[in-house]
Amino acid sequence: MTVAQLQENITKLKQAKGALILAHNYQLPEVQQVADVVGDSLALARAAAESSAELVIFCGVHFMAETAAVLCPGKRVLLPDPEAGCSLADSITPEQLRAWRAQHPEAVVVAYINTSAAVKAESDWVCTSANARAVIEAIPPERDILFVPDMFLGAWLQAQTGRRLHLWMGECHVHAAMRPQDIQAALAEHPQAEFLIHPECGCMSATLYACSTGELNGRRLAIASTDGMLRYVRRSAAAEFVIGTEVGLLYRLQQENPGKRFYPLRPDAICPYMKRITLEKVLRSLQQEVYHVTVPQEIAQRARKALQRMLQVG
Ligand code: 13P
Ligand code: SF4
Repeated sequence: MTVAQLQENITKLKQAKGALILAHNYQLPEVQQVADVVGDSLALARAAAESSAELVIFCGVHFMAETAAVLCPGKRVLLPDPEAGCSLADSITPEQLRAWRAQHPEAVVVAYINTSAAVKAESDWVCTSANARAVIEAIPPERDILFVPDMFLGAWLQAQTGRRLHLWMGECHVHAAMRPQDIQAALAEHPQAEFLIHPECGCMSATLYACSTGELNGRRLAIASTDGMLRYVRRSAAAEFVIGTEVGLLYRLQQENPGKRFYPLRPDAICPYMKRITLEKVLRSLQQEVYHVTVPQEIAQRARKALQRMLQVG
């Protein structure tokens, strides 16, 4: 089947079943095109929670589908490929978090959304890259905070809020590979461009600590979630941007801003898990209603509390 035929079949079946298709900003362009909502982790969590559809096809990775299942207990959430995982989410288990927490019994635990539902269930708060700062600022200043699992996002939050966080040493292998030398090379190669960097990036701590003014060698720079980058570009008068995140975002940036130019900070920043979702798998998912993502009720209840706390903040 051609791409157009696959897309037509998906759209027909989606309408017939009254399903909702969600796609993360890192999904393949042809998958983004069949989605009802394309967005960052926060936007997709909200879309899942607010939709009346009973069937949700989540084009993203496993922890995102789990989040939708936790927030929508009455819905059937499907992940088109059960192997679509996340190296960052895999960097901490609930047992490890329980053991760490036992060493800091007074601390508040904040889990980045890139964690399993079982890790969220051991946490007090969840945050995404879009609302992490607001979540940290909502916690009373005298409380110690354990932040899991992304050390680069945690280090950035420390710099932003002035709070001392205990950091778990986890990382996303795609973003951690972006190093300060990539920033230096891009500064030289694209002298007119503004810089947009995801807070999971490995270049954060070394290069960007110095950029509290929002400038890098005189160039404008923003640290943002994927949807935050889209909003920034819409508002900016600049014509060129260096994008420090997974390359899937460049498709949407280019679609929305045909007159502007986008350069990936690293063209090899490709998430192999996100790219497991193909149109063929989305169609099979709708036809056979696979793969159903479920979370045991007791874990879902506790994870939901931490997620809802986050959704109330921002
Ligand atoms: P966003 O929350 O910015 O969409 O990021 C999710 C993610 O997986 C980053 O790698
Ligand atoms: Fe996980 Fe990194 Fe892929 Fe995002 S880009 S889903 S954090 S492995």
